Amino acid sequence: MALPGAVNRYLLLMAQEHLEFRLPEIKSLLSLFGGQFTSSQETYGKSPFWILSIPSEDIARNLMKRTVCAKSIFELWGHGKSPEELYSSLKNYPVDKMVPFLHSDSTYKIKIHTFNKTLTQEEKVKRIDALEFLPFEGKVNLKKPQHIFSILEDYGLDPNCIPENPHNIYFGRWIADGQRELIESYSVKKRHFIGNTSMDAGLSFIMANHGKVKENDIVFDPFVGTGGLLIASAHFGAYVYGTDIDYNTVHGLGKASRKNQKWRGPDENIRANLRQYGLEKYYLDVLVSDASKPSWRKGTYFDAVITDPPYGIRESTRRTGSQKEIPKGLEKCPESHVPVSLSYHLSDMFFDLLNFAAETLVLGGRLVYWLPVYTPEYTEEMVPWHPCLKLISNCEQKLSSHTSRRLITMEKVKEFENRDQYSHLLSDHFLPYQGHNSFREKYFSGVTKRIAKEEKSNQE
Ligand SMILES: C[S@@+](CC[C@H](N)C(=O)[O-])C[C@H]1O[C@@H](n2cnc3c(N)ncnc32)[C@H](O)[C@@H]1O
Repeated sequence: MALPGAVNRYLLLMAQEHLEFRLPEIKSLLSLFGGQFTSSQETYGKSPFWILSIPSEDIARNLMKRTVCAKSIFELWGHGKSPEELYSSLKNYPVDKMVPFLHSDSTYKIKIHTFNKTLTQEEKVKRIDALEFLPFEGKVNLKKPQHIFSILEDYGLDPNCIPENPHNIYFGRWIADGQRELIESYSVKKRHFIGNTSMDAGLSFIMANHGKVKENDIVFDPFVGTGGLLIASAHFGAYVYGTDIDYNTVHGLGKASRKNQKWRGPDENIRANLRQYGLEKYYLDVLVSDASKPSWRKGTYFDAVITDPPYGIRESTRRTGSQKEIPKGLEKCPESHVPVSLSYHLSDMFFDLLNFAAETLVLGGRLVYWLPVYTPEYTEEMVPWHPCLKLISNCEQKLSSHTSRRLITMEKVKEFENRDQYSHLLSDHFLPYQGHNSFREKYFSGVTKRIAKEEKSNQE
């Protein structure tokens, strides 16, 4: 059904990538800029076309200065399931809202965007000509128009079943594009200092957006690695700080991760990465430190904690240890080795991370982190819980047929008290969550391969 007057309605053209991450990104950014996500928003699941009610064009523009999940935004003038419905919806759009963009001194151009179908030039011209009832008085200028209008046609999501006619047709005034180009300009391939687990640029920006990072914030990554997440936050104007247990990573020493390069070169470090993008002024510092033993004085220092903890697959999960921590009995063994580095169980690591965030985030600050899961055993109850942190979103990224990682975003909603430190142990979430400890074993044990094989032979 056609929408009535399209006042303050905007059409978002979403990218068809990282589908689950899109809605939390848009919601987070809207709330950052003073917009609200209401039930009147129409986000059509996997579709690239979303209709949003946004209080002002300024908020829409701010949203587009940040989003990497949306390609473009349009002020929506009309919408229908057929050309007739679109035209009657356009006739209902208030003329006084159109006139400032159509008057005789202005220049304009009309573009056609189709999803899941390609139109011929002739078909495109026909669609543009059919809009002659609109009060266009300006001159067409294809090269440098003042205003761009778009007809957007939606032919559904199935490339094997493309309908003759579109499911939905939209007409709107283009307002702004999103930040998709950051994915290319910050690509890890062209980055000065990288490691085996450097975070992909697109996901780093999505994480900073889920974390509602803003100018002058202080953002901390306790498992900083090569600083991929610091770069995204600094791009949005936050001051960044990190720690890592690995001396070589923090000091940019040791073996290089690039092919054809044996050792890391001089100045291959996080600071130089920020310099590469003109963001050095946002660099606070990075230190060698064990996240299981934070050395911070009590206080709320961070606006966001954004991190990618180790899963024990391409990097070990370690913490510092001492002889006292060796299990009783082992110390008597003559050949017993005294470790300075102990294994760090994934479940302990996430409990520590949540406690740390609950203690050091400002109220309203966000924790954004990846949780690896073995999908056949995953349930929502496994997601670590804390009395001071409210779960905002939980989005899956598949890694293999039986493993995935989930991007968890939490917001600090209550000041931390000492008794909060252990209260999560009393929760129902505690037991199933222990399952995370076996993530690494399952990943390497061949269980995933075996199940995939069995499933394949069952299908045959
Ligand atoms: C997945 S990587 C982080 C990658 C990072 N996001 C990047 O873009 O390069 C996890 C990092 O955690 C570090 N790490 C492992 N155990 C740690 C601990 N107990 N305390 C602090 N860092 C630790 C590893 O050395 C590794 O650099």
